[in-house]
Amino acid sequence: MKKQPSSALDDFVNNLQNQIFDEARTAYGEIGFNRWRNPLYMGAMSDADGCGCITGSCGDTMEIFLKFDKNKVLNASYRTNGCGSSTICGSFAAEMAIGKTPDELLEITGEKILQTLSVFPKEDEHCAFLAAETLQEALNDFMKKLAKSKKIRTAAA
Ligand code: FES
Repeated sequence: MKKQPSSALDDFVNNLQNQIFDEARTAYGEIGFNRWRNPLYMGAMSDADGCGCITGSCGDTMEIFLKFDKNKVLNASYRTNGCGSSTICGSFAAEMAIGKTPDELLEITGEKILQTLSVFPKEDEHCAFLAAETLQEALNDFMKKLAKSKKIRTAAA
């Protein structure tokens, strides 16, 4: 079959997409840009051992889910209704959590997420802090459930 010549509309759409990609690459750097295009660890987790849900001062909500195996995070995921920056930060917070113990999770801060990204828009740095805070909330939830189950086991013994 003969290939149709591209229409003016196709050219317009392609140029617009290239422009958006160029702007995103400049704003987020190569690491953030790739994650923006492919937001790993996105989605809710029905069998999470700990979840955090926080609405930031910007009005966006971030959720983080943690699944533990023994004393380490086996799996992590996130969900947000926020901007592209919050998607990138949620994705990195989840990625950084995997394989960590509760003590190591405490070390994941907004600064650490920003360091991992290296290039990030100044005006969106709060998204990294929201992701880190939500992760700590998920850890908190896990620790509370753990303490409760230990109490129940002790009482039953
Ligand atoms: Fe609200 Fe990114 S989390 S602007």
